[in-house]
Amino acid sequence: MIRASAPAKVNLVFQVGKLQSDGYHSVNSLYLELDLREELSLTKGQAGSGIQIFVRGENLPARHINSVPRDNTNLVYKVAEAMFARAEVVLEDLEIDILKRIPVAGGMAGGSADAAAMLIACNEYLHLYHQIPRLAKAELIELAAEFGSDVPFSVLGGLAVGTDRGQKLSALDPLGFETHWVIAISNEGLSTPAVYDRFDELAGGTSFTELGQPIGSIAELAELMVNDLEGAATYLLPAISQTKAQLVELGALKAMVSGSGPTVIGLFASRDSADQAAQELSSAGVTCFIASASYGGTRLL
Ligand code: C5P
Repeated sequence: MIRASAPAKVNLVFQVGKLQSDGYHSVNSLYLELDLREELSLTKGQAGSGIQIFVRGENLPARHINSVPRDNTNLVYKVAEAMFARAEVVLEDLEIDILKRIPVAGGMAGGSADAAAMLIACNEYLHLYHQIPRLAKAELIELAAEFGSDVPFSVLGGLAVGTDRGQKLSALDPLGFETHWVIAISNEGLSTPAVYDRFDELAGGTSFTELGQPIGSIAELAELMVNDLEGAATYLLPAISQTKAQLVELGALKAMVSGSGPTVIGLFASRDSADQAAQELSSAGVTCFIASASYGGTRLL
């Protein structure tokens, strides 16, 4: 059995430009990896079983787990097809087990993390069972863009600037201070294209700023944080603004929508203060948990 683990992301900065002719928006994004991880295991399936996908969750409402497709529309299925085709190996019967911890359709790259884990697991599988030379991480990062704009970052992890569709990455040194996050998840998911469509209708982006500079302190980070999709996400799910206000009231240095939402993230300087805010937010009926910055990206276990 091959096991891989892949992290969630938040966008500390997410600036969105105009819709391009390829149907995507140019973005300027500062990605940060969190210590909230999906785990995927890959084994040879029973002869004739095809590709079977099993999904279970940890600390996530059932809706999240139930809404994950188990068929060939799941990104992990597409990764399997592409990796086997690339290696010129006939697609085999495979059993793929996914343990989900990242909110589904939440703006935290949960599906992208699964795709990243599958890329690395397939790379290993094809090497072990078919003696195909392993692709280097840089090659996997390049291939990853085929499966979604966030998948390259899910493979790379850490702190990085993403441009173009978000897939063009330049890695940065880790933050020089700790960051702890309260992750408030919504009862409803948001579709990324729907949020972008609403963004176009509202036509409200900021201009792109230089994101490669070192961030001196957590206060500076709080000041820097912005998400151009927040207005569109809040338009589609107005409850977002209440969650943001609650997080600020509970001491968050900044509260903001993650990616295309609807997950709201609150920034805290210590694990204790994040933990306390999460407990109070939970008591107020909001499903939430805590996470911290981490570095390392997708890896085999
Ligand atoms: O790349 P990904 O598959 O995650 O994108 C999903 C959808 O989100 C795209 O089909 C597009 O509608 C929108 N999108 C965009 N601009 C980006 C990334 C995604 O418009 N930079």
